[in-house]
Amino acid sequence: MRIAFANVFDAMAQWRGIICYTRAQAILTRKLWNLLIGIWNFFQLYSHFHTMNYLAERISWINESQTIAMAKAGRELKAKGFDVINLSFGEPDFDTPSHIRNAAKQAIDDGYTFYTPVAGYPELREAVVNKLKRDNDLEYNMNQVVVSTGAKHSIMNVIMSIVNPGEEVIIPTPYWVSYSEMVKLVEGIPVFVESDVKSDFKITPEQLEAAITPKTKAFLFSSPCNPTGTVYSKDELAALKDVFVKHPEIVIISDEIYEYINFIGSHESIAQFEEIQDRTVVVNGVSKGYAMTGWRIGYIAAPVEIAQACEKLQGQFTSGASSISQRAALTALTSPLTSCIEMRDAFHRRRDLVLGLLNEIPGMTCNVPDGAFYVFPDVSSFFGKKHDKGIIENANDLCLHILNSCFVSLVPGEAFGAPNCLRISYAASEETLKDALKRIAEVLSALKA
Ligand SMILES: Cc1ncc(COP(=O)(O)O)c(C=O)c1O
Repeated sequence: MRIAFANVFDAMAQWRGIICYTRAQAILTRKLWNLLIGIWNFFQLYSHFHTMNYLAERISWINESQTIAMAKAGRELKAKGFDVINLSFGEPDFDTPSHIRNAAKQAIDDGYTFYTPVAGYPELREAVVNKLKRDNDLEYNMNQVVVSTGAKHSIMNVIMSIVNPGEEVIIPTPYWVSYSEMVKLVEGIPVFVESDVKSDFKITPEQLEAAITPKTKAFLFSSPCNPTGTVYSKDELAALKDVFVKHPEIVIISDEIYEYINFIGSHESIAQFEEIQDRTVVVNGVSKGYAMTGWRIGYIAAPVEIAQACEKLQGQFTSGASSISQRAALTALTSPLTSCIEMRDAFHRRRDLVLGLLNEIPGMTCNVPDGAFYVFPDVSSFFGKKHDKGIIENANDLCLHILNSCFVSLVPGEAFGAPNCLRISYAASEETLKDALKRIAEVLSALKA
C-alpha cells in the first residue's frame, strides 16, 4: 500500500502541469505520508500487544475468591496503620500442636525429602483407613484412599474425574466459595438449592428431589458447613439418602473437613448408609481440625474407580503431596485427639460468646451453628439504612461500611451464594471477638432508617 501511494505521488509530480503540483511539493507530501504511515504502524503494534489476550477462556468463567479479597482489603488498611480486626479468615488461629510439628522436623532429619507416591505414603493411607474406622465406623481399603495437597485439591480431583461438560452438580446454598467455581472450571453447571436462616441453612429432601434432572452428575456439600456452621443430623442425612437411592447415577461428594469442630457430639457422615456408600466420596484432611492449614494435606475415601481416576489425574498434575507434611499428617492421624478436642472446646466457648453478643444487636438474625467456626447472620434488616456517606444496599455495602468505619473485616454472604447474610469467623481470641462485636454493634446502631 505504501509503494502504491508513493507511485501515485510520483505520478502526480509528473503530471504537475495538469494539477499545478511541483516536484518539491510531491516529495514533501510523500515524506509526510511516510511519517503518517510510520505513526499508524506504531499504534497498530502498540494496541496489538496491549489487547492481545494470552489467557484461556476458562479463566473468565471463575470469580476471584471474595474471602481472599476481604482479607486483602483488611491487610491494606492495617498496612496504613489502622487497628484492623480480621474476622474474614477461614482458618484456626491456633498453632499446629507441638507433637505434629516435631514429627515434621524429624521427617526432614530422617530423609523424607524425595518425591512421594502419587496417592500418598502407604502408611498415611493406612492411617486414613484406620481413622475412618475409628471415628466414623466406615470400612475402606487403602486403594480407595488418595492423599492430596489439601482438601481443596481433593475436591477438584474428584470433580475433574467425574463431571463432563454440561453435567450438573447440585450444591446447597450457602456453600463454600470454591465449589461453584470448581464445577465451572470443568464446564459443569452448578445447580443451587437454597436454604436460609429459618431452615437452619439445611435443605429438605423435597428440594433435593426437585433439583435433580437427567443431567445431574453429583451432589456436593459440607457438614459441618462453611459458611453457616450447620451440621446435618443422622436423620436428616438419611432423608437425603432416600432421595439418592432413587437416583443411582448421582455421586455424592461429602466434604467433612470440619468434622472435629462439632459441638453436638459425634460427627455423622452420609457415607454410613450402605445403599449409597459405593458412590459416595468422603473428603477430609488435617487443615481445620488439627490447625494445619498451611501444611496442605487432604484426602478422599472413594469408590475404587474414582480413587484410581484421581490418582491418575494427580500423577500428571501435581504428583504426591509434600513428604514432610505427609509425615506430620501421619502423626496427627495416629495420635490421640486431645489437642483437637481442646481446640474444639475453645471454638465452642467462642461460638457462644459471639452468638450471645450478636443476638443483642437489634436486626441481626442468627441460627445456632453447631460446628465449624463461623456465624452467618441474616443482615437484610439493615438494607436501605443510611450512614454519613451513603445507603446500605446489600451485605457487600454493609461489610465495606463496617470495615471502613470500625475496621472489622467480615465476608459478604454473596461470596457463598447467600446475599442476605455475612460471615463472621470466630477463629480469634475471646478478647478480640468482644472488641470486634462491640465495634460492629456501635456502627450498626448509628445507621439511620
Ligand atoms: C468446606 C471447606 N472444604 C474444603 C476446604 C479446603 O481445605 P484445605 O485447606 O485442606 O484445602 C475449606 C477451606 O476453607 C472449606 O471451608
